[in-house]
Amino acid sequence: MNRLESLLGLDLPIVLGPFGGLSSVELAAAVSEGGGLGSFGLYGYTPARIHETIERLHAATTRPFAVNLWLPRGDEVTPAEVDVRPYLDAARPLFEAAGVPVPVPPAEFLPPIAPQLDAVFDARPAALSVVFGVPDADLIGRARERGIAVVGTATSVAEALALEAAGVDAVVATGAEAGGHRVSFLDDPADSLVGTFALVPQVVDAVAVPVIAAGGIADRRGVAAAFALGADGVQVGTAFLRTRQSAATAAHRTALTGAADTSTRLTRALSGRLARGIPNHAMRSIETSGMIAPFPAQNWLTGVFRQAAAVSGDGELLSLWAGQAAGISRLDDAAALLAELAAGVPGR
Ligand SMILES: Cc1cc2nc3c(=O)[nH]c(=O)nc-3n(C[C@H](O)[C@H](O)[C@H](O)COP(=O)(O)O)c2cc1C
Repeated sequence: MNRLESLLGLDLPIVLGPFGGLSSVELAAAVSEGGGLGSFGLYGYTPARIHETIERLHAATTRPFAVNLWLPRGDEVTPAEVDVRPYLDAARPLFEAAGVPVPVPPAEFLPPIAPQLDAVFDARPAALSVVFGVPDADLIGRARERGIAVVGTATSVAEALALEAAGVDAVVATGAEAGGHRVSFLDDPADSLVGTFALVPQVVDAVAVPVIAAGGIADRRGVAAAFALGADGVQVGTAFLRTRQSAATAAHRTALTGAADTSTRLTRALSGRLARGIPNHAMRSIETSGMIAPFPAQNWLTGVFRQAAAVSGDGELLSLWAGQAAGISRLDDAAALLAELAAGVPGR
Protein backbone atom coordinates (compact mmCIF):
# COMPACT_ATOMS: atom_id res chain seq x y z
CA MET A 1 0.00 0.00 0.00
CA ASN A 2 1.55 3.34 -0.97
CA ARG A 3 1.11 6.51 1.09
CA LEU A 4 -1.74 7.91 -1.03
CA GLU A 5 -3.61 4.63 -0.67
CA SER A 6 -3.10 4.65 3.11
CA LEU A 7 -4.05 8.34 3.40
CA LEU A 8 -7.35 7.79 1.61
CA GLY A 9 -8.08 4.13 2.31
CA LEU A 10 -7.74 3.02 -1.32
CA ASP A 11 -6.77 -0.23 -3.06
CA LEU A 12 -5.52 1.69 -6.09
CA PRO A 13 -3.69 5.06 -6.26
CA ILE A 14 -6.01 6.18 -9.06
CA VAL A 15 -8.28 9.22 -8.74
CA LEU A 16 -11.22 9.99 -11.00
CA GLY A 17 -10.97 13.71 -11.79
CA PRO A 18 -14.00 15.75 -10.72
CA PHE A 19 -16.05 17.33 -13.53
CA GLY A 20 -17.83 20.58 -12.69
CA GLY A 21 -21.24 20.06 -14.31
CA LEU A 22 -20.49 16.62 -15.76
CA SER A 23 -19.80 14.41 -12.75
CA SER A 24 -22.17 11.52 -12.14
CA VAL A 25 -22.83 9.48 -9.01
CA GLU A 26 -22.65 6.34 -11.14
CA LEU A 27 -19.13 7.08 -12.41
CA ALA A 28 -17.77 8.22 -9.03
CA ALA A 29 -19.24 5.14 -7.33
CA ALA A 30 -17.85 2.83 -10.05
CA VAL A 31 -14.31 4.13 -9.50
CA SER A 32 -14.61 3.99 -5.70
CA GLU A 33 -16.09 0.48 -5.82
CA GLY A 34 -13.17 -0.54 -8.04
CA GLY A 35 -10.70 0.54 -5.32
CA GLY A 36 -9.79 3.99 -6.69
CA LEU A 37 -11.04 7.38 -5.50
CA GLY A 38 -14.20 8.50 -7.26
CA SER A 39 -14.66 12.29 -7.26
CA PHE A 40 -17.68 14.48 -7.84
CA GLY A 41 -17.47 18.14 -8.93
CA LEU A 42 -19.78 20.42 -6.95
CA TYR A 43 -19.04 23.66 -8.87
CA GLY A 44 -22.03 26.00 -8.66
CA TYR A 45 -24.07 23.67 -6.44
CA THR A 46 -26.31 25.09 -3.72
CA PRO A 47 -25.82 23.68 -0.20
CA ALA A 48 -29.07 21.67 -0.51
CA ARG A 49 -27.88 20.11 -3.76
CA ILE A 50 -24.47 19.36 -2.20
CA HIS A 51 -26.18 17.56 0.67
CA GLU A 52 -28.41 15.57 -1.61
CA THR A 53 -25.50 14.62 -3.93
CA ILE A 54 -23.23 13.44 -1.12
CA GLU A 55 -26.11 11.42 0.36
CA ARG A 56 -26.55 9.75 -3.03
CA LEU A 57 -22.81 9.01 -3.17
CA HIS A 58 -22.91 7.49 0.34
CA ALA A 59 -25.85 5.34 -0.77
CA ALA A 60 -24.03 4.23 -3.95
CA THR A 61 -20.74 3.22 -2.31
CA THR A 62 -19.37 2.49 1.13
CA ARG A 63 -15.83 3.10 -0.20
CA PRO A 64 -14.05 6.47 0.10
CA PHE A 65 -14.94 9.20 -2.38
CA ALA A 66 -13.99 12.86 -2.86
CA VAL A 67 -16.00 15.94 -3.67
CA ASN A 68 -14.56 19.04 -5.30
CA LEU A 69 -15.15 22.77 -4.86
CA TRP A 70 -13.76 25.86 -6.58
CA LEU A 71 -12.36 28.27 -3.99
CA PRO A 72 -12.92 31.98 -4.65
CA ARG A 73 -9.80 33.44 -6.27
CA GLY A 74 -10.94 36.92 -5.34
CA ASP A 75 -11.47 38.20 -8.89
CA GLU A 76 -15.01 36.86 -9.34
CA VAL A 77 -17.49 39.53 -10.42
CA THR A 78 -21.02 39.84 -9.01
CA PRO A 79 -24.07 40.82 -11.10
CA ALA A 80 -23.89 44.29 -9.48
CA GLU A 81 -20.30 44.76 -10.64
CA VAL A 82 -20.62 43.96 -14.32
CA ASP A 83 -22.99 45.24 -16.99
CA VAL A 84 -23.61 42.06 -18.95
CA ARG A 85 -25.83 43.67 -21.63
CA PRO A 86 -23.10 44.15 -24.26
CA TYR A 87 -21.96 40.56 -23.78
CA LEU A 88 -25.53 39.27 -23.99
CA ASP A 89 -26.05 41.33 -27.16
CA ALA A 90 -22.89 39.92 -28.75
CA ALA A 91 -24.00 36.37 -27.91
CA ARG A 92 -27.57 36.89 -29.22
CA PRO A 93 -27.01 34.61 -32.28
CA LEU A 94 -25.95 31.80 -29.95
CA PHE A 95 -29.10 32.15 -27.81
CA GLU A 96 -31.15 32.17 -31.03
CA ALA A 97 -29.36 29.09 -32.35
CA ALA A 98 -30.12 27.30 -29.07
CA GLY A 99 -33.75 28.43 -29.19
CA VAL A 100 -33.66 30.25 -25.84
CA PRO A 101 -34.46 33.89 -25.02
CA VAL A 102 -31.61 36.24 -24.11
CA PRO A 103 -31.56 35.86 -20.30
CA VAL A 104 -31.69 38.47 -17.53
CA PRO A 105 -28.89 38.32 -14.95
CA PRO A 106 -29.65 36.32 -11.79
CA ALA A 107 -29.37 37.69 -8.23
CA GLU A 108 -25.99 35.93 -7.96
CA PHE A 109 -23.83 34.06 -10.47
CA LEU A 110 -22.51 31.53 -7.94
CA PRO A 111 -23.52 30.34 -4.48
CA PRO A 112 -21.16 31.66 -1.77
CA ILE A 113 -18.42 29.27 -0.66
CA ALA A 114 -19.06 29.28 3.13
CA PRO A 115 -22.46 27.49 3.05
CA GLN A 116 -21.12 25.16 0.35
CA LEU A 117 -18.32 24.14 2.72
CA ASP A 118 -20.76 23.76 5.64
CA ALA A 119 -22.79 21.33 3.53
CA VAL A 120 -19.68 19.32 2.59
CA PHE A 121 -18.51 19.09 6.21
CA ASP A 122 -21.98 18.03 7.33
CA ALA A 123 -22.16 15.25 4.76
CA ARG A 124 -18.67 13.89 5.47
CA PRO A 125 -17.05 12.65 2.27
CA ALA A 126 -13.66 10.94 2.74
CA ALA A 127 -11.90 13.76 0.89
CA LEU A 128 -12.45 17.32 -0.29
CA SER A 129 -10.39 18.49 -3.24
CA VAL A 130 -10.17 22.17 -4.08
CA VAL A 131 -9.01 24.26 -7.02
CA PHE A 132 -8.20 27.93 -7.65
CA GLY A 133 -6.71 28.62 -4.26
CA VAL A 134 -5.28 27.69 -0.88
CA PRO A 135 -7.64 26.43 1.81
CA ASP A 136 -7.59 28.62 4.93
CA ALA A 137 -6.83 27.38 8.45
CA ASP A 138 -10.54 27.17 9.30
CA LEU A 139 -11.22 24.85 6.35
CA ILE A 140 -8.23 22.64 7.19
CA GLY A 141 -9.16 22.56 10.90
CA ARG A 142 -12.79 21.61 10.29
CA ALA A 143 -11.76 18.93 7.80
CA ARG A 144 -9.27 17.48 10.32
CA GLU A 145 -11.90 17.36 13.09
CA ARG A 146 -14.11 15.28 10.81
CA GLY A 147 -11.38 13.06 9.36
CA ILE A 148 -11.83 14.52 5.87
CA ALA A 149 -8.62 14.62 3.79
CA VAL A 150 -7.99 17.90 1.95
CA VAL A 151 -6.41 17.79 -1.48
CA GLY A 152 -5.18 20.98 -3.16
CA THR A 153 -4.44 21.50 -6.85
CA ALA A 154 -1.28 23.11 -8.25
CA THR A 155 -0.22 24.18 -11.74
CA SER A 156 3.27 25.21 -10.58
CA VAL A 157 5.87 24.41 -7.92
CA ALA A 158 5.09 27.68 -6.12
CA GLU A 159 1.41 26.74 -5.88
CA ALA A 160 2.28 23.27 -4.57
CA LEU A 161 4.48 24.85 -1.87
CA ALA A 162 1.70 27.28 -0.90
CA LEU A 163 -0.77 24.41 -0.59
CA GLU A 164 1.63 22.35 1.49
CA ALA A 165 2.29 25.30 3.80
CA ALA A 166 -1.47 25.67 4.31
CA GLY A 167 -1.64 22.07 5.55
CA VAL A 168 -3.24 20.09 2.72
CA ASP A 169 -2.89 16.30 2.90
CA ALA A 170 -1.99 15.83 -0.78
CA VAL A 171 -1.41 17.90 -3.91
CA VAL A 172 -2.66 17.29 -7.44
CA ALA A 173 0.00 18.54 -9.89
CA THR A 174 -1.92 19.27 -13.04
CA GLY A 175 -0.04 19.76 -16.29
CA ALA A 176 -1.13 21.90 -19.23
CA GLU A 177 -2.33 18.82 -21.13
CA ALA A 178 -5.32 18.45 -18.81
CA GLY A 179 -8.90 18.94 -19.95
CA GLY A 180 -11.05 21.68 -18.42
CA HIS A 181 -9.92 24.80 -16.56
CA ARG A 182 -6.36 25.83 -15.76
CA VAL A 183 -6.75 26.18 -12.02
CA SER A 184 -3.82 28.53 -11.36
CA PHE A 185 -4.12 30.93 -8.44
CA LEU A 186 -0.72 32.58 -8.02
CA ASP A 187 0.11 33.66 -11.56
CA ASP A 188 -1.92 34.21 -14.69
CA PRO A 189 -2.86 30.70 -15.89
CA ALA A 190 -1.33 31.55 -19.27
CA ASP A 191 2.04 31.86 -17.47
CA SER A 192 1.59 28.53 -15.65
CA LEU A 193 1.31 26.16 -18.60
CA VAL A 194 3.87 23.64 -17.40
CA GLY A 195 3.47 20.21 -18.98
CA THR A 196 2.92 17.14 -16.78
CA PHE A 197 6.35 15.64 -17.56
CA ALA A 198 8.11 18.79 -16.35
CA LEU A 199 5.73 19.66 -13.51
CA VAL A 200 5.40 16.37 -11.63
CA PRO A 201 9.08 15.69 -10.79
CA GLN A 202 9.66 19.32 -9.80
CA VAL A 203 6.62 19.27 -7.49
CA VAL A 204 7.71 15.89 -6.09
CA ASP A 205 11.14 17.38 -5.30
CA ALA A 206 9.60 20.45 -3.66
CA VAL A 207 6.95 19.04 -1.31
CA ALA A 208 6.78 16.25 1.27
CA VAL A 209 3.05 15.47 0.93
CA PRO A 210 1.82 12.85 -1.59
CA VAL A 211 1.64 14.14 -5.18
CA ILE A 212 -1.10 13.10 -7.60
CA ALA A 213 -0.14 13.58 -11.26
CA ALA A 214 -2.85 14.88 -13.61
CA GLY A 215 -2.99 15.89 -17.25
CA GLY A 216 -2.57 13.65 -20.27
CA ILE A 217 -2.80 10.31 -18.45
CA ALA A 218 -5.19 7.94 -20.20
CA ASP A 219 -3.77 4.41 -20.14
CA ARG A 220 -1.28 2.15 -18.35
CA ARG A 221 1.70 3.86 -20.06
CA GLY A 222 0.75 7.25 -18.67
CA VAL A 223 0.27 5.80 -15.18
CA ALA A 224 3.65 4.05 -15.28
CA ALA A 225 5.29 7.27 -16.48
CA ALA A 226 3.70 9.28 -13.64
CA PHE A 227 5.06 6.85 -11.08
CA ALA A 228 8.49 6.91 -12.75
CA LEU A 229 8.40 10.70 -12.30
CA GLY A 230 7.87 10.21 -8.56
CA ALA A 231 4.10 10.63 -8.27
CA ASP A 232 2.19 8.77 -5.54
CA GLY A 233 -0.96 8.55 -7.63
CA VAL A 234 -2.68 9.75 -10.78
CA GLN A 235 -5.82 11.73 -11.51
CA VAL A 236 -7.54 10.93 -14.79
CA GLY A 237 -10.29 13.09 -16.28
CA THR A 238 -10.86 13.04 -20.04
CA ALA A 239 -10.53 9.26 -20.46
CA PHE A 240 -13.22 8.72 -17.77
CA LEU A 241 -15.39 11.44 -19.30
CA ARG A 242 -15.61 9.29 -22.41
CA THR A 243 -17.03 6.28 -20.51
CA ARG A 244 -20.76 5.66 -20.60
CA GLN A 245 -21.01 6.16 -16.81
CA SER A 246 -20.11 9.89 -17.03
CA ALA A 247 -22.68 12.64 -17.42
CA ALA A 248 -21.19 13.86 -20.73
CA THR A 249 -23.73 14.33 -23.51
CA ALA A 250 -23.66 12.08 -26.57
CA ALA A 251 -22.36 15.02 -28.63
CA HIS A 252 -19.46 15.58 -26.20
CA ARG A 253 -18.65 11.85 -26.25
CA THR A 254 -18.65 11.87 -30.06
CA ALA A 255 -16.24 14.83 -30.07
CA LEU A 256 -13.93 12.97 -27.65
CA THR A 257 -14.06 9.87 -29.84
CA GLY A 258 -12.96 11.86 -32.88
CA ALA A 259 -10.21 13.77 -31.05
CA ALA A 260 -6.56 13.62 -32.12
CA ASP A 261 -3.49 14.94 -30.27
CA THR A 262 -3.94 18.44 -31.74
CA SER A 263 -7.74 18.63 -31.39
CA THR A 264 -7.90 20.75 -28.22
CA ARG A 265 -6.89 24.28 -27.35
CA LEU A 266 -7.05 26.73 -24.51
CA THR A 267 -9.72 29.43 -24.54
CA ARG A 268 -11.34 31.96 -22.22
CA ALA A 269 -14.38 32.25 -24.46
CA LEU A 270 -16.79 29.95 -22.69
CA SER A 271 -16.32 30.82 -19.03
CA GLY A 272 -14.09 33.89 -18.84
CA ARG A 273 -11.27 31.69 -17.50
CA LEU A 274 -8.68 29.73 -19.42
CA ALA A 275 -9.77 26.15 -20.13
CA ARG A 276 -8.88 23.38 -22.57
CA GLY A 277 -11.47 21.99 -24.94
CA ILE A 278 -12.33 21.05 -28.49
CA PRO A 279 -13.19 24.09 -30.64
CA ASN A 280 -16.78 24.36 -31.88
CA HIS A 281 -19.08 27.07 -33.21
CA ALA A 282 -19.71 28.63 -29.78
CA MET A 283 -16.00 28.87 -28.92
CA ARG A 284 -15.03 30.30 -32.32
CA SER A 285 -17.84 32.81 -32.56
CA ILE A 286 -17.19 34.25 -29.07
CA GLU A 287 -13.45 34.42 -29.77
CA THR A 288 -14.18 36.27 -33.02
CA SER A 289 -16.50 38.75 -31.31
CA GLY A 290 -13.92 39.29 -28.55
CA MET A 291 -16.82 39.87 -26.15
CA ILE A 292 -15.91 37.77 -23.13
CA ALA A 293 -17.35 38.86 -19.78
CA PRO A 294 -15.23 38.33 -16.66
CA PHE A 295 -15.69 35.06 -14.74
CA PRO A 296 -18.21 33.92 -13.59
CA ALA A 297 -20.49 36.19 -15.65
CA GLN A 298 -19.35 34.60 -18.92
CA ASN A 299 -19.83 31.11 -17.50
CA TRP A 300 -23.38 31.98 -16.45
CA LEU A 301 -24.13 33.59 -19.83
CA THR A 302 -22.90 30.69 -21.94
CA GLY A 303 -24.45 28.25 -19.46
CA VAL A 304 -27.88 29.40 -20.61
CA PHE A 305 -27.37 28.26 -24.21
CA ARG A 306 -25.16 25.32 -23.20
CA GLN A 307 -27.95 23.87 -21.07
CA ALA A 308 -30.41 24.10 -23.96
CA ALA A 309 -27.82 22.54 -26.30
CA ALA A 310 -27.23 19.68 -23.87
CA VAL A 311 -30.94 18.86 -24.06
CA SER A 312 -31.18 19.21 -27.86
CA GLY A 313 -27.87 17.40 -28.45
CA ASP A 314 -26.18 20.26 -30.34
CA GLY A 315 -22.44 19.84 -29.80
CA GLU A 316 -21.70 23.15 -31.53
CA LEU A 317 -23.17 25.06 -28.58
CA LEU A 318 -21.60 23.10 -25.70
CA SER A 319 -18.30 23.51 -23.90
CA LEU A 320 -16.44 20.44 -25.17
CA TRP A 321 -13.83 20.29 -22.41
CA ALA A 322 -11.16 17.71 -23.22
CA GLY A 323 -7.45 17.12 -22.63
CA GLN A 324 -4.66 16.48 -25.11
CA ALA A 325 -4.78 12.72 -24.43
CA ALA A 326 -8.44 12.43 -25.49
CA GLY A 327 -7.42 10.29 -28.46
CA ILE A 328 -5.60 7.66 -26.37
CA SER A 329 -8.42 5.78 -24.66
CA ARG A 330 -11.31 4.27 -26.57
CA LEU A 331 -12.74 2.40 -23.56
CA ASP A 332 -16.35 3.23 -22.81
CA ASP A 333 -16.66 1.39 -19.50
CA ALA A 334 -15.34 2.83 -16.23
CA ALA A 335 -14.34 -0.55 -14.73
CA ALA A 336 -12.47 -1.51 -17.92
CA LEU A 337 -10.65 1.84 -17.92
CA LEU A 338 -9.79 1.48 -14.22
CA ALA A 339 -8.34 -2.00 -14.92
CA GLU A 340 -6.29 -0.59 -17.82
CA LEU A 341 -4.93 2.23 -15.62
CA ALA A 342 -4.25 -0.16 -12.71
CA ALA A 343 -2.00 -2.22 -15.01
CA GLY A 344 0.40 0.73 -15.05
CA VAL A 345 0.77 0.98 -11.25
CA PRO A 346 4.18 -0.39 -10.28
CA GLY A 347 3.93 -3.77 -8.61
CA ARG A 348 0.40 -4.57 -9.92
C1 LIG B 1 -15.33 18.39 -18.38
C2 LIG B 1 -14.29 18.61 -17.32
C3 LIG B 1 -14.64 19.29 -16.16
C4 LIG B 1 -13.69 19.46 -15.13
N1 LIG B 1 -14.08 20.11 -13.98
C5 LIG B 1 -13.22 20.15 -12.94
C6 LIG B 1 -13.63 20.71 -11.69
O1 LIG B 1 -14.76 21.19 -11.52
N2 LIG B 1 -12.74 20.69 -10.67
C7 LIG B 1 -11.47 20.16 -10.81
O2 LIG B 1 -10.70 20.11 -9.85
N3 LIG B 1 -11.06 19.64 -11.99
C8 LIG B 1 -11.91 19.63 -13.05
N4 LIG B 1 -11.49 19.08 -14.24
C9 LIG B 1 -10.13 18.50 -14.34
C10 LIG B 1 -10.16 16.98 -14.06
O3 LIG B 1 -10.69 16.70 -12.81
C11 LIG B 1 -8.77 16.35 -14.19
O4 LIG B 1 -7.86 16.89 -13.28
C12 LIG B 1 -8.21 16.52 -15.60
O5 LIG B 1 -9.20 16.20 -16.54
C13 LIG B 1 -6.99 15.62 -15.77
O6 LIG B 1 -6.43 15.74 -17.06
P1 LIG B 1 -6.91 14.83 -18.32
O7 LIG B 1 -8.16 15.46 -18.80
O8 LIG B 1 -5.79 14.96 -19.30
O9 LIG B 1 -7.11 13.42 -17.82
C14 LIG B 1 -12.39 18.94 -15.29
C15 LIG B 1 -12.04 18.29 -16.49
C16 LIG B 1 -12.95 18.12 -17.49
C17 LIG B 1 -12.55 17.37 -18.74
